[in-house]
Formats: sequence, C-alpha cells, structure tokens
Amino acid sequence: MCGIVGYLGRQEAGPILLNNLRGLEYRGYDSAGVAVLDSGRIDVVRRLGKLAILEEALEKECPVGTVGIGHTRWATHGAPSERNAHPHLDCKEQIAVVHNGIIENYHPLKEELIRRGHTFNSDTDTEVLAHLIEMYYTDDLEEAVRTALTRIEGSYALAVVCPEHPDLIVAARKDSPLIVGLGKDEYFLASDIPAVLAHTKDVLVVEDNEMVLVTPTGVVLKGLDGTVIEREPIKVTWDAGAAEKSGYDDFMLKEIFEQPTAIRETMRGRVDNGKIILDELRMTEADIKRIDKVFIVACGTSYHAGMVAKYAIESWVRVPVEIDIASEFRYRNPILDDKTLMIAVSQSGETADTLAGMRYAREQGAKTMAITNVVGSTISREADGVLYTHAGPEIGVAATKTLIAQMIALYLISLYLSTIRRSLSVEDEAEIVDELFRMDEIVQGLLDDTRQIALMREYADKHAGKSDFLFIGRSVGYPVALEGALKLKEISYIHAEGYAAGELKHGPIALVEESVPIVAVATEGHVYDKVISNIMEVKARDANVLAIASADDSQIAKHADEVIYVPRTSEILSAVPAVVPLQLISYYIAKKRGCNVDQPRNLAKSVTVE
Ligand code: G6P
Repeated sequence: MCGIVGYLGRQEAGPILLNNLRGLEYRGYDSAGVAVLDSGRIDVVRRLGKLAILEEALEKECPVGTVGIGHTRWATHGAPSERNAHPHLDCKEQIAVVHNGIIENYHPLKEELIRRGHTFNSDTDTEVLAHLIEMYYTDDLEEAVRTALTRIEGSYALAVVCPEHPDLIVAARKDSPLIVGLGKDEYFLASDIPAVLAHTKDVLVVEDNEMVLVTPTGVVLKGLDGTVIEREPIKVTWDAGAAEKSGYDDFMLKEIFEQPTAIRETMRGRVDNGKIILDELRMTEADIKRIDKVFIVACGTSYHAGMVAKYAIESWVRVPVEIDIASEFRYRNPILDDKTLMIAVSQSGETADTLAGMRYAREQGAKTMAITNVVGSTISREADGVLYTHAGPEIGVAATKTLIAQMIALYLISLYLSTIRRSLSVEDEAEIVDELFRMDEIVQGLLDDTRQIALMREYADKHAGKSDFLFIGRSVGYPVALEGALKLKEISYIHAEGYAAGELKHGPIALVEESVPIVAVATEGHVYDKVISNIMEVKARDANVLAIASADDSQIAKHADEVIYVPRTSEILSAVPAVVPLQLISYYIAKKRGCNVDQPRNLAKSVTVE
C-alpha cells in the first residue's frame, strides 16, 4: 500500500533512496519517484511503472544531494500515471511530500486550497498535503507540517523536505507504518524494516500521532503537540541477505524453499521437554480457563491460516471458534466480552481492517493476541500478547513462508490452550508436539523430493493455458483448497475457486467440464472417503483431477488422473505439507505464463488502507 523512504546523511541520496525503495516495492509498484534537495531547489524524478523504470531514469540523470525522500505507489486516488506519482510539490516547488495512507477529507481541503489560489497538478489526495503545508509555512517547516496535520482526517506516514531547510526531513505517522533506521551519522526513513536492513539493524519505531525530525545531529521524536518523546531503538535480528534472492529466480520461490527454516525458527524456544512455553502471550492460567469463545480475524492468506486454527482449537481445546474476514468483522457488530479471546493474524501486523477489528475486540473487553511476522508492527504493539512468527522478511507479494509460520504459531497456541485446560490426553498431546517438531523435516523432505517437484512442473506445463480451476477439500483440506485457489489467481491471473468439497453439489459442479482442472486435497483423515466420493462425482463429469494425497496412499491413483504425494501426518497438521505443492504449482503455472510472480498486478503486500 505504497512505501515511503527518506535519507539524510553524507552519501548521495539518490542511489540510497532507490535501493531502499527496492525493499518496499512489494507495497506497491505502479509508479515511483524521488525528490532530492539540491542547492536551494528540489530535484524530482518520477516515473510510471515499476521501480526499474525509475532506475533507468536515474541512471541517465540522478539528482545530486545528500537529503531526499522517495515513494513507490499503489494507486488509491488517481490512476497510475507520472503526474500522480509521488513526491508531490506545492505551487512554489519548495515543499515535497511523499505519503502512504489516505487523506479522507482531501476533497473539501482541495476545494478550499483551489479557492485560495493553489494550483493542483495531480488527482491524488496527497497533493493537498503539499499545498496545506505551503499555506501554513512561514519559515518553520516543523510547525507548518504540524498545523497541516491538524486539518487532516485519515491515515498517513509521510515525509516532507524543503530546500530552505537543507538539513531536515520532517516525517509523521498516523495509522500507516513508519520507522527510522539509525546509521552512523546517517538516517533512513522507511515504511518497513526490510528497506533499511542493508544499512543498519538499529531501528526506531514511530508510533501513531508522532512526528520525527531528522537532522545531521540525530532523530527527535515528538508528539503532535510538540512534546519530545524518548524511545529506545529496537535491534532487528533479520539479516540483510534475507531480503535478497540468493540465487533464486524469484523471491516467492526462495521463500517457498525457506519454509522448513520458518517452521524451525517459529518453534524455537517454545517447546521445552514436550511442554509448550508461550509466556509472550501474557495470559495467566486463570485467563485461559475463563475463555468461552475464540474469534480469529484476518485477511487474505492469513485468513486461511486462521481457518486451519479453527479446526485445531475446536478439536484440541473444545472451545467454539469463530473465524472472520477482518473487513466483515469490524462492521458487523460481533458479540464479544471479557471471556472472549481474539486472535488477530497478520503477516505485516499493519493490515488496516485486521487492526481495526482488534481494536474493536479490545473495546469490548476481549483479550487480544497477535500473530505477526514484524516486530514492532502496530498490531503487535496494541495486542495484549504477541506470538511472533520467525519467518524472516517476506518480499514476494503472495504469502508463502509466513502462512506456514502462522499455521505453526497457531498450532502452538492451540496446544498451549489445551495443555492448560487439560482438554487433550497427555499421550495425544505428546504425539502432536512430536509431529510438530518434525514438521520442518517433513516439509524439507517434500521440497527435496525431485520426483514430486518434477510432477508439479509437468502438471503446471500441461494446464498453464487453462482459464478456470476448481480447488476442493474437506476439514483442514478446505482452507488449503482456498489458499491454493488464492495463490493461483494472485500470481497467474487464472480464475480459480476454492470450495468445501461437500458444497460441490450445491452449485460449483455446474462448472465442471473437461476444460476445468480440479485440484482435490485428499490427504489422510476422517473425511478421506468423502473426498474420494467427491472426486468420483467430478470424474463422472469428465473432469481432470489432480489429487494431493498422503504418501503410500495406494487407492488414490485409481480415482485421480494425477497425484502429488506429500508426507503423511495426522489430519489437522496435514494442512502444512498439503499446501506446499499448491504454492509450487501456482508458481510454475505463473512462470509458464510469463507473469511477474513477486509483483502481481493490482496487489500490494501490506494493505494499510481499508
Ligand atoms: C494482502 C497480501 C496478502 C496477505 C493479506 C493480509 O492482500 O497481498 O498476501 O495475505 O494482505 O496481509 P497480512 O499482512 O495482514 O497478513
């Protein structure tokens, strides 16, 4: 949802801004631009299209100067175009602004500014900021930004420069993420940590309703009323190489192959002698025993991880679980109270709807728990307790390793609740913990199985030209089917639907014909026979069926046209190995179709607006 960067230091700003924008390109990539302060003026370069196009422009002529700001855009107000690309300037071209978020009252503000004689050059909401700051500016940039912010409704992470203050960047945040990387005599503003990892691991997290003044002598955090705020920086443990492709063609492929590590890291230190230790959840035994309902709220792929957790919690903990898409949850007046546990699942920890849902739950008195991959993210800071997934930065827009890590984290939470509530027998619990411990090897085995991988590629080659796919599954195979369909449509632009296999007869079976491949998640479990019946129903209607089945299933090949075998696990944990081939098949299909898998059209990794 747009990424912003800023640099102030002793090096040339242009190449650093460009490089740091690369780390944020997953947030939006329909246009990009930089503004650098150059001897009393602002030099702006903006381009429509991916960052590579801006890079070409900068290679020809890079603005000179050691202070600047930059932006990569995911269009909300105003179509993708050069004139709508950031940075935006005021009338006198003395103030440049980059912004992530939405200025909700931009329309009346724009009318007012036009009445006052300002001329607009774009259709964006952001441009009002530049003109508002211009209107309030006398000679104090900080004050002008502060006053402008009092007029703004909506969300923002923004950075402002003005050539009259060649040693200053003013930035601010409300409801959109913003961090400052602290180098030696140089500072790096960014929307997200991966953008600054190549320069520093010391990061200051800016919170809502705060301003940051970056100067050569340091970084000062202030409240919107001007009071200085003291805050310790955090030390990031991700390594810079994690944000590079390391020999893989695409981040997505690299991240799929990093899944065993993501599992291991997410398990690390959380199981001791067969017992789950999750002190970070900050819930007492009494809190856990009181819970009479669990709500899981998330968007996109994280929602699918949440769906898997519903099966785990209901089976192992025997507490009712509701799972909701965050954008629905927040507006539907759900019923929660102080006996409700609300789990917000969000890779980025910044998704606007998930955050709003969690805030609503807190207002109702529910205990809130966040599962996120980003230390210091808004959701992690506002939740009562946090369980971090340690998947490392995920750059590919389509989530893969973070999904697997979320599922692991949710299994851990489920087991933790069941231990305290004694809802599972000691033997059953030990068996699940043991299997969870082997999950990294299980997934590694699958990724090392060159025969199965070759089958996935063959399948992808054969079906890449199809225009529709159906994914079906039951039990945890159902969210796996949904995720398979989501991955395929996200990165290959093929229409795909995921369905509970039992629902086939209630509509989707009308779509079944020879040209529509069906992918059936048919791993071992108590509904296996039912899935087989569903496969037979579609086979009777000439469908081509690929089954994802458990290793050593001697029956499945009789029913399905093609089979990908995954290591056998217990039913609820089978979501982990079953989803991996679906990620890879989507990847290979998208590659065959020549798609940009890391940056699919119209999508952004972090959706910080509604
Ligand atoms: C976007 C991304 C998805 C992601 C979803 C939720 O739509 O493209 O990959 O699953 O947001 O993001 P979150 O950060 O909350 O998990």
